[in-house]
Amino acid sequence: MAKEKLWGGRFSEATDALVEQFNASIDVDARMYAEDIEGSKAHARMLGSVGILDEDDVAAILRGLDQVRDEIESGAFTFSPALEDVHMNIEARLTELIGDAGKRLHTARSRNDQVATDTRLYLRRRCDALTDKMRTLQGVLVELAEQHAATVMPGFTHLQTAQPVTLGHHLLAYVEMLERDVGRFLDARRRMNQCPLGSAALAGTSFPIDREQTARALGFDAPCRNSLDAVSDRDFIIELLAAAALAAVHLSRFAEELILWMSAQFAFVELPDAFCTGSSIMPQKKNPDMPELVRGKTGRIIGGLVSMLVTVKSLPLAYNKDMQEDKQAVFDALDQLEGCVAIFAAMLPGMRVNAEAMRRAASAGFSTATDLADALVRAGVPFREAHAIVGRSVAWCIEHGVELHEMDAQACAAIDPRLSESMVRALSVEDCVRARDHIGGTAPTQVMRQVRWWKERLQDA
Ligand code: ARG
Repeated sequence: MAKEKLWGGRFSEATDALVEQFNASIDVDARMYAEDIEGSKAHARMLGSVGILDEDDVAAILRGLDQVRDEIESGAFTFSPALEDVHMNIEARLTELIGDAGKRLHTARSRNDQVATDTRLYLRRRCDALTDKMRTLQGVLVELAEQHAATVMPGFTHLQTAQPVTLGHHLLAYVEMLERDVGRFLDARRRMNQCPLGSAALAGTSFPIDREQTARALGFDAPCRNSLDAVSDRDFIIELLAAAALAAVHLSRFAEELILWMSAQFAFVELPDAFCTGSSIMPQKKNPDMPELVRGKTGRIIGGLVSMLVTVKSLPLAYNKDMQEDKQAVFDALDQLEGCVAIFAAMLPGMRVNAEAMRRAASAGFSTATDLADALVRAGVPFREAHAIVGRSVAWCIEHGVELHEMDAQACAAIDPRLSESMVRALSVEDCVRARDHIGGTAPTQVMRQVRWWKERLQDA
C-alpha cells in the first residue's frame, strides 16, 4: 500500500506492480550496505553533536544500524524490492528495530546526497582493491621479465617482423601501461574523495549541520563545495570507467598477443592447462579461453563507459532517476576488470616460453637488416645509401632463398663494393639486442636495469 512507502504520504494509490520491479535498484545497490550504514552513522553522530538529535536517539540509531549490519552479514536480512533501494531497506528495518529514533535519522538528509556519498565510499574501497591487484600483476610481469631479460624474440611493426627484441623488454612495456593505469585510478580516487553528504536533495538543508565533521568521519578530504554539483555529479563514476576501459584495453592487447603466440603458427608460448579449455568435438584442441575472455570483457567494460557518458549527457541539474543506472555500469566494469587482472596474475607465472621458437622467428624475416645498414654507416656510408644497399641485399636473399648472414663475398661485392662478407657474418640477433644498450632500449642489461628499478618502485608502492 502507498502508505507503507517511506515517501507514501502524498500518494493515494498503491504503486503498480510493474513499477515496483522497474523502479527498484536493490538487486544492484544492496552491495553498498556497509557504506550506507557507515554514512548513516556519521550522519547520526553529526546530528547529535550539533544538537539536532538527542544523545539517546543517536545511541539507539548507532546500535540499531550495527544490528542491521549483523543481520545483513548473517543472511537474516531480506531485501525488499518494494523498498526500492539499499537506503530505504536499511532505514525501514532500523525503524522496525528502534522505533521513532529510526524515523529521525533522515533529518537534514536526502537519498540524493546519501546515494552519492555511499557510491563514493564504495568505489573508493573498490579502487584501492583494484590498484592493489594491478600492482600484483605488475610484480608478476617484472618477475617474468627478469627470467626473460635475454630471451630473444621478433619485435613487430604492422605485425611484420621488424627487429629482434627481448621478451623481458616486451613484458615491461605492459608494466609501463599498467603503471599509467594505476596512476589514473589514483588520480580519479583523489578527485572522488569529497563528501556530498549534507547537500540533501539539491540545495542543502535548513538545519545547522556540520559538514566538515561528516566528511572527516568518513575519510573524505573535504565536503563538496556546491550542493547542486554534489548530488548531480557522476564524473567520479565516468572517470573510473574511463580508467577501467583503458586498463582493459591494455590487457586486451596483451591477450591478443598471447592468443597469437599460442597458435601453432607462432608456438612462442604455452599457457598452463589449468587456464585453458578443450573442445567438445576436436580432441586435440587446447584453447586460450582466458585471454580470449579478457579481450571479450574489454568490450563490455568500454560499453559501461559509453553507457554512462550517454546517460549523463542530457541530464539537467540536479538529481535525475536516470542516474540510478550508474551503479550497474561501474560495478560490472570493476568486477570484470578485477577478474581480468586476477586471471592474468594467476596464469602468467605458469606460462611456458618456447625460447627456441622465438629465437628462430627472430632470426627470420630479415630482422637484422637495420643492423646491417648501421654497420655500413659505421664504415662511412650515409644512412640513406646504406638503407638502399641493404634493401637490394634483402631482395637478393629472397631471390636466392637465404638469410642476410648467409650471403657470400661475391654476392656482397656484386650488390655494393662497400658491403663486405664480414659485415653480414657478424649479424646475430643476440648482437642486435645487445647493441640497443641505452635508456629504454631492448638490451638484456637495460632490461635488468629496468627490472631492478621496478622492483624497488613496486616495493614502495
Ligand atoms: N536508488 C536511487 C539511486 O540509485 C537513490 C536516490 C533516489 N533519489 C530519489 N530522489 N528518487 O539513484
